[in-house]
Amino acid sequence: MFQFDIATDGAKLELYRDILGALDALTAGEPDAVANMANAAALIWEYLPELNWAGFYRLVGDTLVLGPFQGKAACIRIALGSGVCGVAAATRKTQLVEDVHAFPGHIACDTASASEIVVPLIHENRLIGVLDLDSPRVSRFDSEDMAGCEAIAALLAPRIAG
Ligand code: SME
Repeated sequence: MFQFDIATDGAKLELYRDILGALDALTAGEPDAVANMANAAALIWEYLPELNWAGFYRLVGDTLVLGPFQGKAACIRIALGSGVCGVAAATRKTQLVEDVHAFPGHIACDTASASEIVVPLIHENRLIGVLDLDSPRVSRFDSEDMAGCEAIAALLAPRIAG
């Protein structure tokens, strides 16, 4: 069992700093990509509030394929350019979507999702996949979440690159 000292009642910046520290400790020296993605999804799910889905899609060939996650069973394959995940992967840019119903082509894996953030995972200029977080609350994610999730992605990308 792992024990983390993560306070969930403080500022968002500190929460991300603590999650990042725990994630670093959990994945340091571990070469297995699935294990690292699985623990990352579990940690994010446990400590970030107001999520209904947290996990990974991996680039396999030219398609995003479902990876380790927490939440309801989800769409398995997403084409590059499709939905929020596919756009994040194709553009290699974080997609912060305040209202998924206003996003053209959004793929509704869980009808409870109202807002979403998807961060591309890039290692040595190679797209590895995306980190996807969904929330049942509109506008759940802001610029602090974007910075925090991008820091998580930067830490993880070399540890899941295979
Ligand atoms: N909503 C995503 C699909 C993945 S699920 O949210 C888990 C999209 O539009 O790409």
